[in-house]
Amino acid sequence: MQPANIVLIGFMGAGKSICGRMLARRSGRCFVETDDVIASRDGRSIPEIFREDGEERFRQLEGEVLEDLRLKRGNVIATGGGLPCREGRMESLKSLGTVVWLDGDFRELHDRASRTADRPMLMGRSLAEIEALYRQRTAFYRQAHLTIDTTGLAVDEVVSRVLRALRDSHSARA
Ligand code: S3P
Repeated sequence: MQPANIVLIGFMGAGKSICGRMLARRSGRCFVETDDVIASRDGRSIPEIFREDGEERFRQLEGEVLEDLRLKRGNVIATGGGLPCREGRMESLKSLGTVVWLDGDFRELHDRASRTADRPMLMGRSLAEIEALYRQRTAFYRQAHLTIDTTGLAVDEVVSRVLRALRDSHSARA
């Protein structure tokens, strides 16, 4: 059986969790979020893992979750913003199903991401450094099957556009 999951990737603040949850509901699929899997397995929150063990350990845990996602069938999977950004990770994600990059205007992504204080990658970094991180990461994100520009869009509109893009890409392949 084909995995045929829908995998959401993108920078912090892109709306992967909130859109993923609504997308799952509207398409009758189960929702899984890599950060939740890591936190529940490890018994610590993501900021605690960063603080106590460092970023590299967190990236290892992401790699382990990625392996386990190979068992998923027909789910909506929301990834952490940095998960796709290592050699080979985009290829692994693409083998799980259709990978959708939720992109947007950097300032808007940054504003949304900064609303909560639980993002270790934003801590101690200037706006210019965070923008540089975003630019570096686009080299990975742009390998996605589909890209949705979320700039100025409400969550339900983003989800409608994802569903439409998935339908269009299916009919193009049929
Ligand atoms: C990270 C993004 C976070 C989380 C962790 C690291 C990153 O997820 O995985 O704090 O490196 O961009 P969100 O993209 O859901 O904020």
